Parts: sequence; C-alpha cells; structure tokens
Amino acid sequence: MTDHSQTNTNQTYTLRAILILTVLVAGVAAAHSQDVPSNAPYKNAKLPVEQRVQDLLGRMTVEEKASMLAGANWMESVAVPRLGIPSIKMADGPMGIRSWAGPSKITKSSPFNSTAFPAGIAVAATWDPAVAQSVGQAIGQEVRAIGRDMILGPTVNIQRVPLWGRNFEGYGEDPYLAAQMGVAYIKGVQGEGVIATVKHFDANNQEFERHRVDESIDERTLQEIYFPAFKAAVQEAGVWSVMSAYQKVNGLYCSENPFLLKDILRKEWGFKGFVVSDWGSTYSTVGPVNAGMDLEMPGGEPAKSWLMTENPKKVGNGGDWLSPEKVLPEVAAGRITVATLDDNAGSILRTMFVSGVFDRAQTAAGEIDTPAQRAVARHGAAESIVLLKNDGNLLPLDASKIKSLAVIGPSAAVARTGGGGSSLVHFKYAVTPLDGIKERAGSSMQVSYALGTSMPGEDPAKDTPEAREELRKEAVAIAAKADAAIVLIGNSAAVESEDFDRTTLDLPAGQDDLVQAIAKVNHNTIVVFNAGAPVNASRWVGQVPSVLDAWFGGQEIGHAIADVLFGDVDPSGKLPFSFINDFKESPAYGNYPGEDLHVKYAEGIYVGYRYFDKHSITPQFPFGYGLSYTNFGYSDLKIKSGKTSGGQTFEVSLKVRNQGKRMGAEVVQLYVHDGHSSIDRPVKELKGFRRVELSPGKSTTVSFTLDKSSMAYYSTQKKDWVAEPGSFDVLVGSSSADIRLKGSFELSQ
Ligand code: BGC
Repeated sequence: MTDHSQTNTNQTYTLRAILILTVLVAGVAAAHSQDVPSNAPYKNAKLPVEQRVQDLLGRMTVEEKASMLAGANWMESVAVPRLGIPSIKMADGPMGIRSWAGPSKITKSSPFNSTAFPAGIAVAATWDPAVAQSVGQAIGQEVRAIGRDMILGPTVNIQRVPLWGRNFEGYGEDPYLAAQMGVAYIKGVQGEGVIATVKHFDANNQEFERHRVDESIDERTLQEIYFPAFKAAVQEAGVWSVMSAYQKVNGLYCSENPFLLKDILRKEWGFKGFVVSDWGSTYSTVGPVNAGMDLEMPGGEPAKSWLMTENPKKVGNGGDWLSPEKVLPEVAAGRITVATLDDNAGSILRTMFVSGVFDRAQTAAGEIDTPAQRAVARHGAAESIVLLKNDGNLLPLDASKIKSLAVIGPSAAVARTGGGGSSLVHFKYAVTPLDGIKERAGSSMQVSYALGTSMPGEDPAKDTPEAREELRKEAVAIAAKADAAIVLIGNSAAVESEDFDRTTLDLPAGQDDLVQAIAKVNHNTIVVFNAGAPVNASRWVGQVPSVLDAWFGGQEIGHAIADVLFGDVDPSGKLPFSFINDFKESPAYGNYPGEDLHVKYAEGIYVGYRYFDKHSITPQFPFGYGLSYTNFGYSDLKIKSGKTSGGQTFEVSLKVRNQGKRMGAEVVQLYVHDGHSSIDRPVKELKGFRRVELSPGKSTTVSFTLDKSSMAYYSTQKKDWVAEPGSFDVLVGSSSADIRLKGSFELSQ
C-alpha cells in the first residue's frame, strides 16, 4: 500500500507553517532585489567545487532550495534564474535517447529519432567493457547533440528472475560482470560531460507490483549480489546520479530508505552526486527528503496531470510529494531541517559544477546518428551474438555449398531493436535480419522469405490457429526447397517489456511448432533468437544443428546477424545469464512474485550459476557460455604472490592460443573458489574476465590481479568484507561450466 502517513496534514503545524512561509516569501522578495556580483565565487569555474557549492547555498533562500527538490516537468529539473542555476535537462535511456511527449519533449513532431544501440543484455554478452564504454560515449554525444545534460541509464539490476520484464535492459545475473559493464558505460557517458544515472537502486528485480511489493533481502545478499554494480558505479566510475527504485526493500520504499540512501550510498560508498527518484516512485514528503532522495521526478504540472491518468493510478505510481507546497510546511514544522535542504539541493548543485552543466551554455553541440555512432551500434551488436550450438560446423555459411537460403520467422523482416517500455528508442532506420542477410548474400545465394508465424498482437488476423497453420505451411514449403533455413524467433517488445513480467519462458505464437516443422524438412536449420532473457528451447534444440542468440540488438541488428552468419565476424559473445528452459529451474522459483505484496529472496546469494553450481544442476546453456568458429587452448597457468599497500595480491597469468584456422575472439573467465571458508560460499564466483582476439595459431598471455576484494565475503557480524587467510582456488575457463585450468594460492594475512 502507498504510505501517505507523512503528509502535511497535521493541523498543529498549520499556523506556524503559514507564518514561516510568509517570512520565506518575504525572503525571496528581498533576495530578488539583491544583485549577485558577477565575481561571486560560485560563478568561478576555477574555484574548488565545495567552495562554489557553499557560496551558492549561502545566497539561496529556503524557498529556492526547496524548489530544487522536485522536477519542473517530465524531464527537467527546476532552474533558479535569479542565481543563474540552470535546469538539468534529462533524456531517457539507457539504450539510446528515447522519445517522450509533453512540455519538455525534444522535437515538435513526435517521435524523436536517435540511434538505437544494442540492449544492455547484448552489451553484457560482449563481455567487452570497451563496447559498453563506446556505447555510453556515443549516447553521451547524442545527449549533448540535443542540448541536454543527463541520460537515465545504465540499468544494472541483476537478473534474479528470468521472467522479469526488464532483463533485456540490464547486464545479467552476475554482480561482477554487471559492475564492469556499468562502470564502462558510465565512463563513456560522463567523459562527454553528460550525467549518467545508474538505476534502479536497489533490487528492482521484478515488474510485478513494482509500486507495492516489499522485498526481504538479507544484508549479505544485498552486499554480495544487489549492491556491487552500484558500488562500482560510485567508486570506480564516479557516477554523478543514482535513481532510486520503485519498490520497497526490507519494509521501506527505496526512495525513502535511509539504510540504502544514507548509510550505504553516501556513508559507506562516499557518493557525492544526487539521487533522483524513479518516475512516480515517491510516496511521501518527509521520508524521501530526510533519506537524501534529492530530486523527485517528474514534477510540476506534467506530473500532476500524469498521476491523474488511469494507468499511473492503476499501477500505483506515487509522486508530487516534493513540490515546495509540500516541502516548505514540513520545514516550517521542523520535520525537515534547512541543513537537510542544503544537503539535498547541495548534491544537485555539486553535480552541476562537477559535470560542467552549470558552466556551459545549454546549446546543442554535435550530431545524432552519425556514421561513427552507427558503427558503434553495429560493432556492439555483432560482438554480442552468442553461438549456442554449431553441429557439424554448419556456420559460417559456406557459399560453395549453400546456394539458397530460406529466411523465416516473425523476427526476420522486423528489426527487434529493444524490449518494451521507457528504454525503447525510435530509430531513424533499422536493418532487419532479412535485409542484412540479403545484402550480404548478394548474388551468391538465393534468398526466399516467409513469416512462418506472427508475433502476438502485431497482426491480429494472423493470431488464429488456422492462420498460423497456413503461415507455417508456406514457411515449410520454402524451407524444403532451400539449402539452409534461418529461423528468426524470440520475443517482441510487447512480450518482454517494462511494466509487466512474462508469465512463462515459452515462446509465444507457436514458434516452437514452427522451428520443429522447419527442422523436419531442412537439416541445415539455423535458429536465431531475438530476446533479452532465456526462452524455452527444449522442444527443438536437439533437432537443429545451429543456434545463435542475437538479443535485442539495436538498429544494426540485421547487419550484425549477417556478419556472424557469413563469418565476417567470429561469434565471441558469452551468455550473461544461465539459460534455462523452465521457470521451475530458477533459484527464485517458489519465491516470486511473492505473496500479499511481499517477496522473500530466500535463495540469498545463490542467484544464477551460484545456485546451479551449489545444487549440481546443468542448465540448458551455462553462464559465460558461447562457442566460436575457431577454438582456443588454455595453458601455463601461473600464480605469483605480490604485495601492495592494500595487502597481499596475486598475479594470475595464463596462455591462450587460437588453435583453429580462423581469426577469432575468446572471453577468458576467471572464477575464485574459497576452499576453507568458515561460512557457506558459492562453488565459484566470477572475479575477472578478458576478451582477446587472436589470429590462427597465435597465442597471448592474459593476466589478472586478484586482491582481497576478489576473495572476500560480506560478514554481517563484522559489517565488513572479510577475506579469510588460507587456500583459494583459481578456476580459469571458457564458461562457468568449462573450466580449463585450475590453480591455488595461499592468503597469508
Ligand atoms: C523507469 C525508468 C525511466 C523512467 C523515465 C520509469 O518508468 O523505471 O527506468 O528512466 O520511467 O521514463
């Protein structure tokens, strides 16, 4: 239930509030009449940021400070023109700039078009922070190109539940991988002077009842699974903004949760930027302000009218709680102090100074959808593709044997660029797989096409069993005549989306039947998924020789798929989650979506492969898995002990050799096992990875440095990370289930 208990309805304070408001308004009038000298310290970009913040706060009235705590409209914060404080102009993300309506909209004629980059899950599948950084940088450039200051991304929430509607936005099931990708994306964005917003803090792991659900998560699990990507965003990337999540964690809404926002974010991690609410995720006034939730979004008239519309009301959006009309009486009543206003407004001001937003003209600089940005989208999409199966080396397509291709499926002639909801970008153009394949095949292969089945709702006339039967027949007919069939299946943005979770991992619209029917008539059937999460492949995965996962790959998805099918790019993507067929296999099964608006994270730290390892379960495809057109040999594992000011370190090195005949890339993964722990720990935890590209026959040395953070668990007794002296195993391999080299070292202190 929405908690409205802390509203300004307490009659005792009304009179006092009115008196103080009168004084405040008089203060504003007086302040207006003062001239701010042009050499005021806060205007001097050369002075230390803290001096500027304090100087500016000292010149602001209480009302001006309070005015900064709620947005001006849908995508902009409130400006204070008297002092030259600009509004922060935001853009929705994280897979590119999303179009939105209302007074802060970007273009007069909606929708606004920008580059659709691969979804977060695709970026994670590259295991290549350079890709995440280049995507972040390109998005940062596009944000500047439209004269805005902030992007609402990246999403770093962990995939706890394979059914979560927003899995495609995040970086998968492992906290270390999510942290590395998030850090790189943020560095890319902020390198352009644009504020990145890491979201949604914390544990936004389901859409089901996201406004009301209360998650019970023990402290160790928060620290080991649901915090690391946020902590790294703060400490390694210096992120300038954090978005609080919609739901409750351990009894309190994230937007008014002092444990999350004060104890952890600011005190433990040293966050100095500002916290922004998710859109419609504030549910009271005093709680959020005192917890350090600095900026409520959206604000102003657009927020009020939006909150009155049917859907936000129905789903439980809460908002319009931090407007000055609500905050000032609480200040007058003493439930919010002016020192707190200083902290909160100060965090926003500090970010404006640090990012350069305060000091630069808010004019458009740069371009959108340039050849370079398109190249980033294509490169990222191609690197993300995971080769799940390739019996008999059917792929890459051999033009000397395959002269005709049947391209089939509901995702063949449609570019599935992203999942649904606030991240979906309106692109200027998108390359469909069919077009990408035709373009690459040229005259060397004959390409035919059939829809096979239609995604639910895309053409209601085709959603009937009879229509499906007919479409399947047409597809089978062209598949039977072709040398190879490529079947593009998966989910649409209406199936995987923000706002709701899937109810099953099964593919919609009879796609299983379609694949089975095609596989029967064509032994060279290649299945390509477009989805952001696991889908049930069990009915046919044994019947087809080749399977690729191409995710929601952004506007260049069609080129990227063709690049890999034809072997111009060696597939090097690795799964960022364990690929299961049935929700019953999930660690969260039985504890999702919760009962009576309460969900217990009973699996604790055993999320994803940590759970499958513990229970010796073999998923359809394991975390970190992905084949290549070539193959790699691992050898010469060496572990050397060293020392830094931070304590003992271990240099792990090994040799990787491309043993095949083609150029290729491998993602070397390093897992650590604590063999002597006094508490229960996972069989293995990812603590390092490196993507290496090698020509045939070539080898390279890959090295990692492990410090105590790679060995530690979170002790709830000590309220700290503990690395217990003793023996640790190092497991190096090509996936979490394909460990090629093992070694160990002794932590002595
Ligand atoms: C989403 C956020 C998004 C915001 C603004 C919310 O519904 O959860 O991720 O940035 O809307 O569109």
